[in-house]
Amino acid sequence: MSAVERVAGAIPGVAEPVGSAGGAAAPLVGGAADDDILLQVSGLTVARKDAPSVHIVDDVSFTLRRGEAMGLAGESGCGKTTTALAVLGLLPGGLRRVSGELVFRGGGRARPLHRLGGAAMRRIRWASISMIFQGAMNALDPVKTVGSQIAEAITLHEPKVGRAAVSRRVGELLDQVGVPAKRSVYYPHEFSGGQKQRIMIALALACRPELVIGDEPTTALDVITQAQILDLLGELRRELGLSLLLITHDLAVLARACETIAVMYAGQIVETGSVDAVYRDPQHPYTARLLDLLGAHDAPGALPKPIRGNQPRPNARPSGCRFHDRCTFATDRCAAEAPDMRNVGAGVPPHAARCHFAPWPDGAVDPQDRQASPEGQEETP
Ligand SMILES: Nc1ncnc2c1ncn2[C@@H]1O[C@H](COP(=O)(O)OP(=O)(O)O)[C@@H](O)[C@H]1O
Ligand code: SF4
Ligand SMILES: [Mg+2]
Repeated sequence: MSAVERVAGAIPGVAEPVGSAGGAAAPLVGGAADDDILLQVSGLTVARKDAPSVHIVDDVSFTLRRGEAMGLAGESGCGKTTTALAVLGLLPGGLRRVSGELVFRGGGRARPLHRLGGAAMRRIRWASISMIFQGAMNALDPVKTVGSQIAEAITLHEPKVGRAAVSRRVGELLDQVGVPAKRSVYYPHEFSGGQKQRIMIALALACRPELVIGDEPTTALDVITQAQILDLLGELRRELGLSLLLITHDLAVLARACETIAVMYAGQIVETGSVDAVYRDPQHPYTARLLDLLGAHDAPGALPKPIRGNQPRPNARPSGCRFHDRCTFATDRCAAEAPDMRNVGAGVPPHAARCHFAPWPDGAVDPQDRQASPEGQEETP
């Protein structure tokens, strides 16, 4: 059994191996009726202000449906956080959106986030789209009780709500995330890491958003607490009908919490599709290597080979396919010609990969199989 099949087998709903994906079918972005779409990101490009040719995020497109949990995956530095900050209109001072459209269809109408001014974006942030920032649990104010911090978030956006109603809502929110309401008068240092992360989730839900963006929300937690928090996010999502954009470098976390995935590499999306399809039959060698590294944890004594080399910095990306200097399958064409996204299977969203040779024959892109074959190129870490 290949590493990819092992990983797929460990994920509920991803048990049966399937054959290779078919040819081009549905459109790359979309596949869902407009009414189902909550957020549509089309051709988002973010550049450095001091070096406009350096694209931190490069032509990124994806669609998030109502109630869907989508995972944005990839190694550190590939542009995940920058993508999320662009959606929220919170790019750091040194960066600028140079092109692309961000359409949010919350509250029964379509709003072009890329055209909204500061005041309109402030109204949308938190109330319609909220974010659990990376390492956020350490950002709770140490001198204020957790209840007063949640209350502040509510009154900031809903100033007309009376004190009694706010206090009732604080209690309900804490209840929802599994923290006893009576602990609203405690200070952050009186909670464990997992409880603080639950409080951050309560804060994110304070104004009843339709979309929650979680940037590595479980990275700092031990695996058991991590699983509890992911399950809590899943329950809340179903209960409240939320959409979730979960940013993570950890494909195990993503598989537990998400139905769809977009894998980023060096500023671009290189593979996208349902978690089932992508984990079972990855169609980009980078995704296959990431899944291989994950699967290797299951095999006793087997240490995974790291992916050779490093992800290029935004100002030093190679020509052609950005992955070619790390890819075991690279040919001369890969160094010369940049691949486009290609549809490799139907579905919502359609399975697509940014590789000249996709769709690959069944299992051919699995690096373990490749290493075992006589033609296989040995990888050097
Ligand atoms: N304000 C900034 N100015 C210049 N480069 C930045 C800035 N913010 C992020 N970057 C660069 O953009 C790339 C992507 O960063 P980020 O979106 O944080 O990646 P990820 O979240 O995937 O780890 C990194 O190479 C990072 O150094
Ligand atoms: S285009 Fe070439 S280098 Fe890029 S992922 Fe595909 S085989 Fe590898
Ligand atoms: Mg990040």
